[in-house]
Amino acid sequence: NSFDSLYEQIGGAKKVRELVEAFYARVQAHPLLKPIFPEDIQPVMEKQYLFLTQFLGGPPLYTEKHGHPMLRARHLPFPITPSRANAWLECMHQALDEAGITGEARDQIWARVVMAAHHMINQPED
Ligand code: HEM
Repeated sequence: NSFDSLYEQIGGAKKVRELVEAFYARVQAHPLLKPIFPEDIQPVMEKQYLFLTQFLGGPPLYTEKHGHPMLRARHLPFPITPSRANAWLECMHQALDEAGITGEARDQIWARVVMAAHHMINQPED
């Protein structure tokens, strides 16, 4: 039902976990992304799980644990070029496919992550 949150529409916690796992497997295999992420990806996956849950209208797990997301500020230590933003989105697109997230909910999630990814760019192309 389109009045439910995106979180509910896609199937809640289990589906967010699936999405996060499919996403970071790709991030870790991507030549532009791998070098800027830590070797131990587990803590990043956990934060992303908490964040996406609230981003999609589920319980505010990220804020409860880590405070205001301030995502642009938290990304400033990392060189996010337009190519890296595109690489991030490519990984997310494939992860949405792998998690079987389709239809109207997928289109809405996609529009939101595209905006967020563009907002995170903090460096010109290197
Ligand atoms: C953290 C890269 C976009 C959500 C991070 C980290 C990197 C990174 C390197 C830090 C890993 C560490 O802790 O060492 C990127 C790149 C992006 C991007 C290259 C390309 C545009 C996004 C977007 C979102 C997002 C669009 C949300 C929709 C997060 C979250 C964290 C994070 C929630 C954890 C923040 C924390 O430390 O609490 N990202 N990111 N990122 N990213 Fe991104």
